[in-house]
Amino acid sequence: MQRILLTGGAGFIGSSLTEVLLKEGHEITAIDNFSDFYSPEIKEKNIAKFKEHLNYKLYRIDIVNLKELYSLIKGDFDVIIHLAAKGGVRPSIVDPLGYEVVNVQGTLNMLELARSLGVKQFIFASSSSVYGQNPNVPWNETDVVDMPISPYAATKKSAELHGSVYSHLYGIRFIALRLFTVYGPKQRPDLAISKFARQMMQKETLSIYGTGETMRDYTYIDDVVLGLKAAMDYKDSNFEVINIGNSYTVSVSELLKVMGRIFQMEPKVIFESEQAGDVHQTYADISKAKKLLNYNPTTSLEAGLLKFRDWIYKESNK
Ligand SMILES: NC(=O)c1ccc[n+]([C@@H]2O[C@H](COP(=O)([O-])OP(=O)(O)OC[C@H]3O[C@@H](n4cnc5c(N)ncnc54)[C@H](O)[C@@H]3O)[C@@H](O)[C@H]2O)c1
Repeated sequence: MQRILLTGGAGFIGSSLTEVLLKEGHEITAIDNFSDFYSPEIKEKNIAKFKEHLNYKLYRIDIVNLKELYSLIKGDFDVIIHLAAKGGVRPSIVDPLGYEVVNVQGTLNMLELARSLGVKQFIFASSSSVYGQNPNVPWNETDVVDMPISPYAATKKSAELHGSVYSHLYGIRFIALRLFTVYGPKQRPDLAISKFARQMMQKETLSIYGTGETMRDYTYIDDVVLGLKAAMDYKDSNFEVINIGNSYTVSVSELLKVMGRIFQMEPKVIFESEQAGDVHQTYADISKAKKLLNYNPTTSLEAGLLKFRDWIYKESNK
């Protein structure tokens, strides 16, 4: 049993992880401010069934508020899993300062909290976006990531750097997992698969940015949860950056073909100009994750989309 302090616990990945960890008998103290980046009602729904669980506590705190973190979060924790963030590439171009405050200062606050509480293991949700337009695929953790192309990506890279500092100065083991487009039940409504599915079900025309050739490495939520769990037990070094992807990249056009088959409809598509901040492709080299975390994603895109479809059909019939 581990005592886990989890930020962003009401979000897509945080609530999916909570479900598994509670089943395994761990204790979870979750922090979330139920931000209105997307409907807070969805987040309330995500955590509804945990609220009465004896091993679950929820604090509605903004991670930017260090004073409140210090005064409310007490106790011994084996690990901090830090998922709270402002997500999304395009909105970060509109609000770079807001992203900096939550994603960088918020992460520093959590590192300070780790220091003051004596927590020695810190897992951070970084992002494939830090690789920018790197043409050498699949992307490897040793690649230079000094040229991000969105404020969001820059905040994730900055947070990794702060993690390195805290691991060096204070012996806090910092593991940054660079997540590659995560999808599955409860997926954030602003992300492509979720948005496309809803539009297809409403028989709406889908707007595709670019020519449909943009490539993404889509990673199923259950595989990401396994990666996060493995990182909780990783003890062999004090600082690591590790890709968590599916290592299988497909174009948006191919994705839509598979979705069309699964949802049994031909999507109607209009192509719009490419969006600033979007990278052309993402593709994870996961050999390091295999070696250090024994991470082996097992859900193919088609199998994951089928599970996602079953979930969204159930949701829309409620
Ligand atoms: N979903 C993906 O494809 C993906 C890919 C790469 C990285 N990530 C990272 O993984 C993490 C989780 O992503 P997600 O898809 O579950 O997003 P999400 O938006 O569903 O979850 C994030 C949660 O953090 C909370 N939050 C935001 N700002 C906060 C603040 N100031 N204080 C406290 N809580 C706050 C939100 O209310 C939300 O519940 C994020 O750090 C994200 O950047 C996600």
